[in-house]
Amino acid sequence: MEKPLVSIIMGSLSDWDTMRYCAETLQKFNIPYERNVASAHRTPQKAFELASTAKERGVKIIIAAAGGAAHLAGVLAAHSPLPILGVPMKGWAFDGLDSLLSTVQMPRGVPVLTLAVGKAGAVNAAVAALEILALSDDSYAATLEDFRRAQTQDVLNAKFPDEK
Ligand code: RP5
Repeated sequence: MEKPLVSIIMGSLSDWDTMRYCAETLQKFNIPYERNVASAHRTPQKAFELASTAKERGVKIIIAAAGGAAHLAGVLAAHSPLPILGVPMKGWAFDGLDSLLSTVQMPRGVPVLTLAVGKAGAVNAAVAALEILALSDDSYAATLEDFRRAQTQDVLNAKFPDEK
């Protein structure tokens, strides 16, 4: 199996309903990834181990998804020098505003690159991972260019349901 370049870490298996869109997008881009459930609060040791070993395991980017008191991305950022992309989950209250603020409001010096709440954020985390990898890999750069071109064309070709 190919070594993962991206590590998706979710606070709960319940986040998979949203994060599967991230995984599908990574697959579409041929980016090898691993996925794990680790919680900043319920399994802090596992979260620490995944973050602190990621770089030596060849991972380039960590995508962290959590909801509610969403401390996971920040905890992973504390234990890894890799870019951490945070995806706030919609959660069970406040429509994800709680998750968004607790993911994005990191202290100076320890950033979490925070995406939109929910599915758009899950997909965009994969696109952002592609953009980072494309900086140093021509094949991923070509994939990114194709993706952007196709996306633009799709919008230009879009028809209303009552149009031919
Ligand atoms: C967070 O609490 C998880 O990331 C999830 O978004 C939320 C709810 O988790 P469960 O109670 O469904 O396990 O830690």
